[in-house]
Amino acid sequence: MSGIASLEIDGKKYDFPLTVGTENEVAIDINTLRSVTNGVTTLDPGYKNTGACESAITFLDGEKGILRYRGYSIEELAEKADFLEVCYLLIFGELPSRDELQKFHNDIREQSIVAEDMKKILDGFPQAAHPMGVLSSLTSALIAFNPSSVNVDSEEDMYRAIVRILGKFPVLTAWTYRKRAGLPLDYGDDTLNYVENFLKMMFKKPHSDYKRNEVVSNAMDKLLILHADHEQNCSTSTVRMVGSSHAGLFVSISAGISALWGPLHGGANQAVIEMLEAIKADGGDTKKYMAKAKDKNDPFRLMGFGHRVYKNFDPRAKIIKKAADEVLNDLGIDDPILEIAKGLEKEALEDPYFVDRKLYPNVDFYSGIIYRALGIPVEMFTPMFALGRLPGWIAQWREMRLRKEPIGRPRQVYIGENLRAFKDIDYR
Ligand code: ACO
Repeated sequence: MSGIASLEIDGKKYDFPLTVGTENEVAIDINTLRSVTNGVTTLDPGYKNTGACESAITFLDGEKGILRYRGYSIEELAEKADFLEVCYLLIFGELPSRDELQKFHNDIREQSIVAEDMKKILDGFPQAAHPMGVLSSLTSALIAFNPSSVNVDSEEDMYRAIVRILGKFPVLTAWTYRKRAGLPLDYGDDTLNYVENFLKMMFKKPHSDYKRNEVVSNAMDKLLILHADHEQNCSTSTVRMVGSSHAGLFVSISAGISALWGPLHGGANQAVIEMLEAIKADGGDTKKYMAKAKDKNDPFRLMGFGHRVYKNFDPRAKIIKKAADEVLNDLGIDDPILEIAKGLEKEALEDPYFVDRKLYPNVDFYSGIIYRALGIPVEMFTPMFALGRLPGWIAQWREMRLRKEPIGRPRQVYIGENLRAFKDIDYR
């Protein structure tokens, strides 16, 4: 490869350097495009072809179905690591030693106290408020109770902000659920690991002891690992974009939560179960819904199918499908929704519409099924995704600040009115 890309505009040729990543991904560096061409820009709605940054955190190859965090395959991490190790790996770049992991966990525990006044903010929300909106607001409000801004040139400051959010976010997530469920707000148990502690904070009833269930906590751990990062997706790009204005870590993450909420992104896991329930209520006719999904005049889409970057299979979906089978077997769950899910999956995998467009079940198709089996209410599915994605958002925010990236500011192609004279109100 020449290392140069040439572009011809109106008969004039311009050369741009190629940038090659460590996995041989090639990008045309168009940094100078506007200045050398006198204002020509690129147009790429949805950023399908635009690399917004260089990043050393996550590698994914959508065609080959590869996902790696810091060079480690998702398959190996899901099998051998726990969520906190993966958090450390994503954020700091290496797997922690035993001592590093212990210190990290202790520091997170230390920072897991949430100011009592935060409960008043939570109290102000209607009980039926969607947990993602509540969680985004509470995460943003954290800054008011922890006002010192992060000096990104200080490793210590950066570390403190990171363990703070990792400590407080599970508490906020559990509180958001408990408020909705009408349960008293509580703290966790320092003797438990990160994930078990979270589950206890979620499900402990005021009148009985919480019983640990290893199958549940292992499945949850795996789910969180699978969701921990996914390079420059919508919510992560949002975190980097907001952070690029030098807004703090907590508010950048709060913005990421809002982006994740949408049904085309993190909200898809909730949408999957709602779709399956609607199909069941309508008599369970999967063929009817397959036809709706293919009908271009019908806005219905098969939720949990398709992915912007995975065009062959979603490697996370493979792992999670196996975990879903294990959990359902171990817990002895017989769920009619599952039969509908299996029917849709089978039909879609054989249907030319889905095969031709390379639409396969994505991670959300199965994650909703596991969450449901674990007793997580449907409106908490997307907050669970947020909890899993938290280390990815932190890692990406940290990388963006340490690399001193410029403020994010895309261009546009203006297609509105040309200059026109102001019309007096009587003549409009
Ligand atoms: N059901 C039916 N048709 C679909 C679906 C679907 N789920 N997804 C895509 N298509 C069709 C489109 O209508 C389009 O058809 P056309 O070429 O005839 O016009 C074609 O497949 C390509 O679709 P795009 O929307 O261009 O694909 P894109 O990459 O932009 O979108 C997305 C990806 C948003 C995930 C899409 O597949 C979708 O809406 N899926 C359902 C929602 C979902 O599961 N989201 C979770 C994503 S994973 C995550 O966020 C963790």
